Amino acid sequence: MSPENPLLLRAISLGGNKNKIIEFYDDWADTYDTDMIDTIGYVGHIITAEALAALVSDGAEILDAGCGTGLVAVELKKRNVSLRIDGIDLTQGMLDEAAETHAYRELIVGDLMGKLDFSDNSYDGIVSAGVYTNGHVGPTGLDELVRVAKPGAPIVLTVRDTAWEADGFRTYIDDLAAKGLIRIREIRHSPYHGNEGIFCQLCILEAV
Ligand SMILES: C[S@@+](CC[C@H](N)C(=O)[O-])C[C@H]1O[C@@H](n2cnc3c(N)ncnc32)[C@H](O)[C@@H]1O
Repeated sequence: MSPENPLLLRAISLGGNKNKIIEFYDDWADTYDTDMIDTIGYVGHIITAEALAALVSDGAEILDAGCGTGLVAVELKKRNVSLRIDGIDLTQGMLDEAAETHAYRELIVGDLMGKLDFSDNSYDGIVSAGVYTNGHVGPTGLDELVRVAKPGAPIVLTVRDTAWEADGFRTYIDDLAAKGLIRIREIRHSPYHGNEGIFCQLCILEAV
């Protein structure tokens, strides 16, 4: 099980530095899927897609936040081909791979730590896998997901176990609920990197 895969060790040490994140993922983009799925045993895309697909209607407009190479949208489309999925990501090289899946309506370069170029209440559902983790997007990056979700829209995301308490996700999500901005439907401890023995919290939230 350990030590953790060297690619993952590099990924979690990026410190939220945008230039480093872009350089790292641009380099990794073409082998990301095989490394993550075959070597690391990643299942973040499957658990989020399963949870979200069960909560949205046919034709729903979905935002995949930090869509990477498009693994989440491919899983969503297997469960409901009618979903209209937009993907946003910091890294053009990852978006280029996502375009090859043909699972997205639109793919947009954007930063989840900044203001997103979408109106309030735009989406029927939001999904994000593998992004709210050490060295990537911190808890304040949830604010924009909440803003662009329609009232009642599910927001499904993974938070890596090692970031859950240490990076303040647990407290931040509880605060969003206490402020009446979200409802917490379920938080489930789930396998994440199956071959590494690493878990995540699968957060199934709802915009208010
Ligand atoms: C581990 S990958 C996950 C990709 C995909 N969601 C999946 O499940 O395979 C993390 C992704 O987050 C993106 N990312 C990191 N920081 C970001 C930010 N501030 N805004 C948008 N995307 C970001 C990276 O470019 C990368 O594509």
